Amino acid sequence: MWDRRNLTSLASFTRDDVADLLGHAATFATPEGQAKARNAHKGKTIVNLFFESSTRTRVSFELAGKRLGADVINVSSSGSSTTKGETLLDTAKNLAAMRAECIVLRHPASGAADFLVGRVPSAIVNGGDGAHEHPTQALLDAFTIQKHKGRFDGLVVAICGDIAHSRVARSNALLLGTMGAEVRFCSPGTMMPPCATDLGPTVKVMPRLEGAVEGADVVMMLRIQTERLSGAMFPTTREYARTFGLGSRLIGRTKPDAIIMHPGPVNRGVELDPTLADSDRSVILDQVESGIYVRMAALDRVMSASS
Ligand code: CP
Repeated sequence: MWDRRNLTSLASFTRDDVADLLGHAATFATPEGQAKARNAHKGKTIVNLFFESSTRTRVSFELAGKRLGADVINVSSSGSSTTKGETLLDTAKNLAAMRAECIVLRHPASGAADFLVGRVPSAIVNGGDGAHEHPTQALLDAFTIQKHKGRFDGLVVAICGDIAHSRVARSNALLLGTMGAEVRFCSPGTMMPPCATDLGPTVKVMPRLEGAVEGADVVMMLRIQTERLSGAMFPTTREYARTFGLGSRLIGRTKPDAIIMHPGPVNRGVELDPTLADSDRSVILDQVESGIYVRMAALDRVMSASS
């Protein structure tokens, strides 16, 4: 069971924890829930401390915090005193000294969020740490899957792309495995981590996209994390798109009602055909909307536990 004061990983999440968080998020998806939340954390301060670029995560955490009545401050690495040599810990301690109730951290180093837990009095929420985890992304993905499929048990979820460098793949494998879904990982061999099946209790490794999407209920495509690559992982982008990109030829192999997901940002024409990204099968923008409700639920839980 997670400690509810910090949300850095889904490794300790039980089925009940996931159900609780998703149920709580669902209350914020209604006008009544939004109205009730308006002053829930009035007077508290949340700091979004982002050391990597972000559109969806940063904006939805900001919206979520504001809709809970909190003051939300955004700090990016380029505009912070880390450029003058200040450490992450000193930065966090200074924010805590200004009574930041919660710090949402995005950082290129795996383990950065866990590193801050217990070292500062603020609640810590992981907004993505290196190739480790992106817990609220997996929770919003689960919220979206539940909305469209109504269940997790027995679902086949194909997660395809740069698995080795993907914190989204890792958090999803943990959550979906806990909830009883089959997870199929598919990527070029150079982008499949060793011991990939250790990443989740129900993970299967599939070397070909044709096999991975066969009969799938959900296909989640991932971008190539070029910022984390140290060398060439495949011959050309064109060849990657032809072999590991999802297009009209392969979508016919999924279940007829399969949904297409992507955490964003999408590299159109590389991992996903633009026509599919914009099709009725795509729930990509639903995922983005789910992010507000799930992040409201996560912030409400950690700030309620820490006050
Ligand atoms: N899915 C996701 O983390 O997107 P951003 O990098 O835009 O936050």
